[in-house]
Amino acid sequence: MTENSDSRLSDTGDDRVEATGKPVYRALRLCTNYRAGYTLPSCGARGAKEVAEELQRQWPERNLPFDLETVHCMGKCHIGPTMKLIPGGPFILGAQTKEDVTRILDLLETGDADRAAEEYAEPKPL
Ligand code: FES
Repeated sequence: MTENSDSRLSDTGDDRVEATGKPVYRALRLCTNYRAGYTLPSCGARGAKEVAEELQRQWPERNLPFDLETVHCMGKCHIGPTMKLIPGGPFILGAQTKEDVTRILDLLETGDADRAAEEYAEPKPL
């Protein structure tokens, strides 16, 4: 058995999986982009700035094992604000209120990223 420098990781060689079988994420990314000077659907036009401010306000109080990053566009502009756990994690879409941010961080803090993705999922086609 080899020893990892990060005790959360398994010795399977897959650095995205904890010894418990849960994925290890490096960051939660939030898109804060405005498209075409605010005229096209975008995370920025759908409240990403307020979501970013609330994430930054709550982040220091949380025990989250990854970083918070802002990026410009992840291709889901019309259903944002778009968040994604990286590497390889799920999208978390459409959070717009302080309560949404609190709910998402509560779930991520307990390691339930899949539930966060289910509750903030891409809308189903009509
Ligand atoms: S503007 Fe946020 S995903 Fe494109």
